[in-house]
Amino acid sequence: MKKMFKRFRYRRINEKVRKKYRETTLSAADFIWPVFLVHGKNIKEDIPSMPDVYHFSTDSLLFELEHLVKLKLQSILLFGVPEEKGIKQAYTADGIIQKAIPQIKNEFPGLEIITDVCLCSYTHNGQCHIGDNDKTCEILAKISVSHAQAGADIIAPSDMMDGRIYYIKQALSGQNFENIKILSYAAKYASNFYGPFREATECALEKGNRKSHQMDYANTEEAMDEISADINEGADQIMLKPAMSYLDIVARTKEKFDVPVIVYNVSGEYKMLKEAVKNKWVDADIYWEVLISMKRAKADRITSYFTPEILNKLSQRNY
Ligand code: PBG
Repeated sequence: MKKMFKRFRYRRINEKVRKKYRETTLSAADFIWPVFLVHGKNIKEDIPSMPDVYHFSTDSLLFELEHLVKLKLQSILLFGVPEEKGIKQAYTADGIIQKAIPQIKNEFPGLEIITDVCLCSYTHNGQCHIGDNDKTCEILAKISVSHAQAGADIIAPSDMMDGRIYYIKQALSGQNFENIKILSYAAKYASNFYGPFREATECALEKGNRKSHQMDYANTEEAMDEISADINEGADQIMLKPAMSYLDIVARTKEKFDVPVIVYNVSGEYKMLKEAVKNKWVDADIYWEVLISMKRAKADRITSYFTPEILNKLSQRNY
């Protein structure tokens, strides 16, 4: 009698065969490496809350990039950690980011430089705004122009103020920076997964939380509205954040909008996995599993602290 079922297991018999049928892969071009920059020289300092993530001075970063660019690193996302607090530090021409960009561009002209734009590492109370939404947007626009003047390729506002893409786009166009792209953190959720990052950028809140501007994690439709508004205001690409528990949002966004969608695999997600592997609770292959799941959800690219080790692995083995 003919057996009336379909056979799939032939696709899984060994790794060579599995590779042939694999629908999703990771490649070096998928990754954006987030970097925490500090003033000073010859600094590569551990960030206790984030294993294998460092505070770099620009010279040490250049040294590190030498290796990573050889491993096909394409993009970095810069965060400035100023010595002294104060909003002016965020847009002054001799700020950390503004000084670092030309040096990086000079050594690595092909490396795409994305800059995070937010006030939280610069305000005394750690807030991402100064109370008034629109006045905050004016400052964000000023910061964005200063990054563009320094040579940034992409400006990535992560503050979640209303209308900031509009303000930033206007300001950039006004200064003939129409070519500078805007990567909007359009749907950034008020998430518990950001905990370790706040130590890295010294932006822990004195009091309260960020729930009055970052999104409620229970909402999907609102995210679609945020994304649509940001695209209308001039965003070229969309960042969704966090990644791991938000892949439904990624899939929805890709179905609805025709723009590149990047996920941010954030500090808490990174730290949980690193600790679990360190404690031998799970195999290190879990990194691949989690990162592949983001691509499977149709994210175009992944911002991740795993970037250096993934690039290393990608160069060693033929994944
Ligand atoms: C600043 C910002 C945060 C992150 C990126 N930009 C923290 C926050 O909003 O509290 C989080 C990144 C991470 O956790 O890795 N607005």
